[in-house]
Amino acid sequence: MTISQARKFALSELKFSPSPILDADVILKWILKCDQTFILFHSETELSELQKNIFCSSIEKRKTGLPVAYITGIKEFFGSDFEVDKNVLIPKPDTELLVENAVNFIEEKFHASSDCKILSVCDMCSGSGCVGISILKFIEEKKIIPKSLLPKIIFADISKKTLDIAKKNSLRLLSEFAFEKTVFVQSNLFENLGQSRNGLFDVIVSNPPYIPYSQTVELLKDGRSEPSLALCGDIDLNGNLTNFDDGLEIIRNLIFQSVDFLNPGGILILETGEYNAFQTKKIMEDSEFKDVKIYKDLEGQFRNVSGILA
Ligand SMILES: C[S@@+](CC[C@H](N)C(=O)[O-])C[C@H]1O[C@@H](n2cnc3c(N)ncnc32)[C@H](O)[C@@H]1O
Repeated sequence: MTISQARKFALSELKFSPSPILDADVILKWILKCDQTFILFHSETELSELQKNIFCSSIEKRKTGLPVAYITGIKEFFGSDFEVDKNVLIPKPDTELLVENAVNFIEEKFHASSDCKILSVCDMCSGSGCVGISILKFIEEKKIIPKSLLPKIIFADISKKTLDIAKKNSLRLLSEFAFEKTVFVQSNLFENLGQSRNGLFDVIVSNPPYIPYSQTVELLKDGRSEPSLALCGDIDLNGNLTNFDDGLEIIRNLIFQSVDFLNPGGILILETGEYNAFQTKKIMEDSEFKDVKIYKDLEGQFRNVSGILA
């Protein structure tokens, strides 16, 4: 089987996929350890017997609806390859907006203040760690602030398995210096982050589960195998399903608790669904947040809501 034949095979087999050729190319790049240029300019290269078998079994898995990232174990996000498995949500391009907004705030805060101090950042509901790791990596590599002021980042997630993956990704993707700035805490929202009336963080950034229960059930029917824990937002603090079906229960609790865990002037930046961004804005305004803003993603959908703690 040549590269060209492999791509044609994927096209004929992956009828349900919106992007069969892209799926085939990502799998081929993973198997052949090559880049897209190689795929395009070496279409007559023969796959070895082993490579062909891996390719065909990957296509079989993809036919069940399993996302390519769970087949290859890798997903690119903000320019880095993150390791993923079925315990973590696959990082989505929309979530890059959270990284941009957090980096912008940190940069502005640094330039606005003469008595620069080391900021503290919390990546709540951290999953693969893609958000916090990308913030830290970008700030260090692009020298957004002096290295000596690189923020400390606390990764918090309710799932121990996702924290293990976030830690592995941090070790692999961050410099030794930046990795020393990371802390990993298993926690139901802020439960294990220590009570503090004076606040702990300057930035809380989060892509929490925010999909209504009914939509989560529908989404999971396509065989994507992403953890329901990472998607459904209608879960209360005791882990029970609420009756609201608005995807906002985790967001409500996260906003209420953030008030106790942010320094005054600190920012909370949340990813939301386009369908619950305005309700999220209202919850923030009804709490102690001011200057509450909604941001659109590249597709023009309402995707982030941020607010400054008064
Ligand atoms: C939408 S995923 C986001 C993962 C990652 N930050 C990303 O953007 O790809 C939500 C994450 O929240 C975690 N989670 C769910 N309920 C939680 C809770 N009550 N407290 C902390 N983390 C929670 C899940 O385990 C999952 O990793």
